[in-house]
Amino acid sequence: MSESMIQCRGVSKSYHKGSTVVTPLEALDLDVPKGEFLALMGPSGSGKTTLLNLLSGIDSPTSGSLVIAGIEIAKLSRRDLTKWRANHVGYIFQLYHLVPVLTAFENVELPLLLSPISKKERHARVETALALVGLSDRMHHTPSELSGGQEQRVAIARAVVADPPLLVADEPTGDLDRESAIRILDLIRQLARDHGKTIVMVTHDAKAAAAADRTLHLEKGQLLGNS
Ligand SMILES: Nc1ncnc2c1ncn2[C@@H]1O[C@H](COP(=O)(O)OP(=O)(O)O)[C@@H](O)[C@H]1O
Ligand SMILES: [Mg+2]
Repeated sequence: MSESMIQCRGVSKSYHKGSTVVTPLEALDLDVPKGEFLALMGPSGSGKTTLLNLLSGIDSPTSGSLVIAGIEIAKLSRRDLTKWRANHVGYIFQLYHLVPVLTAFENVELPLLLSPISKKERHARVETALALVGLSDRMHHTPSELSGGQEQRVAIARAVVADPPLLVADEPTGDLDRESAIRILDLIRQLARDHGKTIVMVTHDAKAAAAADRTLHLEKGQLLGNS
């Protein structure tokens, strides 16, 4: 039996929008074993980003239980959640979210600036992460000097530099040409297969989902159709 990385039980999330209440996720159950690469599909507005935000501790559920790597994060305070997030989750965005005035090296270094490690150790980790994504030769370039595919590789290096067990990716190939997308998907798959990362990736692209071990569909607040 494989070890569990994510165990969601009866997770709901509601937002107040003016005088109405929107409930993108309702009594959701989800199990993801350690080391799985899971793709999440679903129409726009179906709650995919909301779910990633809950899994990554950016937001908390309205109700339900959310155990990640053995820790019940639904009950953590905002402050503890922030601490937890720093060494448990890496987030990869569709539009990379790199800091434009910083070099690739400095962008990847950011998540480590608050951790109690020496500068030498920090720099070594940044170099390892950039080597992993194949960008050692570009590390002193700023995002505007890089292609979209290279920017996303920097963002992946930033997501893994603190060595978190869980990575969440929100349409990571949505803004890339086919060739760059394939390279990013290969990289993400490699992170699961060779580095034991658990990955939850939202995508609109069936070809991207095909790179994953399993695909789930989010519809009307529920996860449907195992494949
Ligand atoms: N911070 C928020 N405040 C209010 N409503 C939100 C917020 N985030 C998401 N929603 C609403 O929740 C629903 C699901 O949104 P989202 O998770 O972004 O969907 P998806 O990523 O699948 O397109 C939408 O109706 C959206 O308007
Ligand atoms: Mg979204």
